[in-house]
Amino acid sequence: MSLSYYEGKTFHVVTYGCQMNVHESEKIRGILSTLGMLEIDDINKANVVVFNTCCVREGAEDRAYNNIVSLKKVKSENKDKIIVVCGCMSQQKNGKYDLKKKLPFVDIIIGTHNINLLADYLSKFAETHKRIYDILDQPTASMDGVKCVRDDKINAYVNIIYGCNKFCTYCIVPYVRGREKSRPVKEIYDEVKDLVQNQGYKYITLLGQNVNSYGKDLEEKMTFSKLLNYLCTIEGDFKIKFMTSHPMDFGDDIIHVMKTQPKIAKALHLPVQSGSNKILQKMNRHYDIKHYLHIIKKLRHAIPNIALSTDIIVGFPGETEKDFNQTMKLVKRVKFDQIFAFMYSKRSGTPASEFLDQIDEHTKNVRVNKLLRLERLIQKDQIKKYFNKTYDCLIRQINGVAVGITDGGKEIYIPTYRYNNQNYFALVKVEDIRNHKLSGVIIK
Ligand code: SAH
Ligand code: SF4
Ligand code: F3S
Repeated sequence: MSLSYYEGKTFHVVTYGCQMNVHESEKIRGILSTLGMLEIDDINKANVVVFNTCCVREGAEDRAYNNIVSLKKVKSENKDKIIVVCGCMSQQKNGKYDLKKKLPFVDIIIGTHNINLLADYLSKFAETHKRIYDILDQPTASMDGVKCVRDDKINAYVNIIYGCNKFCTYCIVPYVRGREKSRPVKEIYDEVKDLVQNQGYKYITLLGQNVNSYGKDLEEKMTFSKLLNYLCTIEGDFKIKFMTSHPMDFGDDIIHVMKTQPKIAKALHLPVQSGSNKILQKMNRHYDIKHYLHIIKKLRHAIPNIALSTDIIVGFPGETEKDFNQTMKLVKRVKFDQIFAFMYSKRSGTPASEFLDQIDEHTKNVRVNKLLRLERLIQKDQIKKYFNKTYDCLIRQINGVAVGITDGGKEIYIPTYRYNNQNYFALVKVEDIRNHKLSGVIIK
């Protein structure tokens, strides 16, 4: 009865954080559309606004908090506007902001474990108009099977495993996302098949905080590499990407599938976090640099054109100049195609937030800038490596010109080719590099 209250009304969703959250917002949009609501761009005009938050670093929290607060005035002028806050920041215990207290104008605050019940919460609110604050310790039914309204028409996200059991000492994710839980193989298979064969998706990105753990908690004997092999049996012109992999569980079986299956994208995000063994140990990462470099060597041997990206934290407690220089050395040595560098951010409730040897903000700043400068230099130099090489690219049109996009996201312009309005994969050979731009021809 009360759900009809929402029919024909408008909504707007604001998302912070990782791909997992981006995908969850697609499901939130699905739930709201199913209620007969319409999505609009104007956050001030929307009848319902949902903030899907992140708390992985202080910056993410501050951004979300400030944006929520900035809606206070609009809400005071339009009391019927409904504001919902959900996601990792509200799930967090003892976070920087006490949301319940500090955001009295927010109508519904829920966490990560009950977003699937959003329609029920909205219904209850429409009936009672009483503020709802409900954070659960355990997941309720998952969001599997919830209708998605996807943003992207080329790449579709598909969850394969939720939660994390790794407990890296800096990281809040295991506390706000709970323990690892794999989705059944059949469900994933059916979803991917539908996306590829009925909806025309070209890339499927499998999501998990640690995809390599896939299957460990399932009764059927399943591993991540077996899942990949199985998904490659789906017919169609598409490729599979996945994130994130943890170097500790990244076995030869996965390298083998990446090498032998043409449907697996030749790109990998493998967070290293630090170049210092001492720091890696303090982070509880369970590998050392020798192990990491060995994986990189095997990957490049098996798949010479592979695009590699990584995450790095600078200024972790106890990081000396020497430790930091080891990170710089590693970056120079591996020459990643892309790095995501973060300044360590204290997350209350995690072990590292209590370490006594915290690094001051100025030092963190200096180090992260040094690292980013090095990265830019490497990038400039790296472009040469594309010359005369051939990449299996997705052919698309950008600004009126045909472009081949590599699995690593690099654009190769194809000036001689007339785009026929269809996205498909083809081999593109790079023939020229000018002003840091690649151009080439389709050879097959
Ligand atoms: N599950 C993924 C992603 C975790 S969050 C993984 O294991 O890689 C994404 C990145 O945020 C991490 O790789 C890490 O580099 C960074 N990060 C996590 N906690 C952080 C913190 N407290 N301070 C700074 N960066 C952090
Ligand atoms: Fe966080 Fe580590 Fe889990 Fe990644 S593997 S989500 S960094 S605890
Ligand atoms: Fe942020 Fe939660 Fe993702 S803390 S990085 S949105 S899992």
